[in-house]
Amino acid sequence: MAIILPDLPYAYDALEPYIDAETMHLHHDKHHQTYVNNANAALEKHPEIGEDLEALLADVESIPADIRQALINNGGGHLNHALFWELMTPEKTAPSAELAAAIDATFGSFEDFQAAFTAAATTRFGSGWAWLVVNKEGKLEVTSTANQDTPISGGKKPILGLDVWEHAYYVKYRNVRPDYIKAFFSVINWNKVDELYAAAK
Ligand SMILES: [Fe+2]
Repeated sequence: MAIILPDLPYAYDALEPYIDAETMHLHHDKHHQTYVNNANAALEKHPEIGEDLEALLADVESIPADIRQALINNGGGHLNHALFWELMTPEKTAPSAELAAAIDATFGSFEDFQAAFTAAATTRFGSGWAWLVVNKEGKLEVTSTANQDTPISGGKKPILGLDVWEHAYYVKYRNVRPDYIKAFFSVINWNKVDELYAAAK
C-alpha cells in the first residue's frame, strides 16, 4: 500500500479561464505528485504507524520525530491538494440554504465572508493556504496556515481551502495574488463545501 496521486475530477482545462490548463498540469502532475512521493518515502521508514494521514496529522506528536516534519510538509501537502481539486468545478454551484444561513450568521453576509476569506488569502505571507473551517465549537471560522500545515492539526475541520503558494497562480496571474483569489470564487464547488460542512458540524 502506498498513497496514490488522485486523478483530477475534471479535465485539466475545465477551469479555464479562471485557472489555466498549464497551471493545472504543473500543480497536479508535478507539485502534488512530489508531495505524494515524499510522504510515501517518509511513511516507508515507519510502517508501524500506518498511512492514515488525517489521523496522524490530527495528532502530530504521535508521529515519530525523525519523519514528523516530513509528514507535516508532504502528508499535509497531499491532503490539502487532494481536497483542493475537489473544491473546484466548472459547474455553477451555490451554497445550500443551511450553509448560506450559517455564513450570514457568522460573517454578516456572503460578501463579508468573501472579504474575510480574501483578506486571509491575501495577507498569508509567503506560502500557505486560506481556509473556511468548522472549529472545535462547531462554528464557521476563516483562518490561514503556513506552508502545507493543515487545519486538522489545530483541531479544525477544513470545508473550503485555497492554495496561495505561488505555484498555484504564477503562470497566469504572475505576482497578482488578489486576481487569482477573485477568480477562485468563480470555480468553487459549493456542493463539495456543503458535503464537508454537513459532515463536520
Ligand atoms: Fe499547491
